[in-house]
Amino acid sequence: MSWMRPLGGTGLIISALGLGTVKLGRDKALKYPGSFSIPDDRSAAALLAQARDLGINLIDTAPAYGNSEERLGKLLAGQRGDWLICSKVGEEFEAGRSRFDFSPEHTRRSVHRSLRRLGTDVIDIVLVHSAGDDLRIIQELGTLQALEQLQQEGLIRAFGMSTKTVEGGLAAAALCDVVMLTYNLNAQEELPVLDACADLGVGVLLKKVLASGHLARQFQDPVQASMDLVFAHPATNAAIVGTITPAHLQANVEAVRRALG
Ligand SMILES: NC(=O)c1ccc[n+]([C@@H]2O[C@H](COP(=O)([O-])OP(=O)(O)OC[C@H]3O[C@@H](n4cnc5c(N)ncnc54)[C@H](OP(=O)(O)O)[C@@H]3O)[C@@H](O)[C@H]2O)c1
Repeated sequence: MSWMRPLGGTGLIISALGLGTVKLGRDKALKYPGSFSIPDDRSAAALLAQARDLGINLIDTAPAYGNSEERLGKLLAGQRGDWLICSKVGEEFEAGRSRFDFSPEHTRRSVHRSLRRLGTDVIDIVLVHSAGDDLRIIQELGTLQALEQLQQEGLIRAFGMSTKTVEGGLAAAALCDVVMLTYNLNAQEELPVLDACADLGVGVLLKKVLASGHLARQFQDPVQASMDLVFAHPATNAAIVGTITPAHLQANVEAVRRALG
């Protein structure tokens, strides 16, 4: 399997590993095993340059990741063409707490704000940042329809949903270009969603592939075991792994390349 691959039927060609950027913008109310310091501009720029040199072209951010979008807008200035950017709508993180708004009006405002923050005129992928009630969001709130409209207007290239339930993942797969879901050594409940995405040819981005850093201790090399697991499934287009540690970034790329054979 090749490192660069199509994201479902979106027409986007992504690297098998994407860089998650929560830790570039937010250090509060997270479930990582240890505390950390948000990297300064110099370290963040070096991390992005390292990612690009290692062949990564996919970067994942969100309005709920503190100032991650604004920082990326500045840090990626002049190299926008080298990257495919995935951002989200629906979750806001303010004064240390999340609040959610999935209304079509907020969705439009949020995408326009992300365009400004990222300093771009089109966002490659926008996902609904689910609060957990996936099915209600999909069936009752009109968020996906608002994203489809923004896609028709040319402001986003592909849309989808980062889901938290099997039912939500299955419903999203039927309606979206891309589904982002959790799949790792500790959590495989969402396997039916992966199977459905493979059947439908829907793009799949995996989150929490390293269980947010709570690595399974029973494996001699848990990073390799994680990548072997997720890339054994034919639906997996990319693993989005969050890291601010250069050695981890290097190790993750090597592990994905080995998993791909
Ligand atoms: N849409 C959503 O609802 C949603 C939810 C969660 C996450 N996400 C996205 O998915 C990305 C990944 O999720 P995540 O950050 O929760 O989980 P993750 O990628 O499974 O784990 C990230 C954690 O693992 C550590 N790590 C990374 N590589 C490692 C290595 N080789 N060895 C040991 N530890 C390593 C990182 O620490 P270091 O920084 O020290 O490497 C970080 O604390 C996020 O950044 C975000 O972009 C989306």
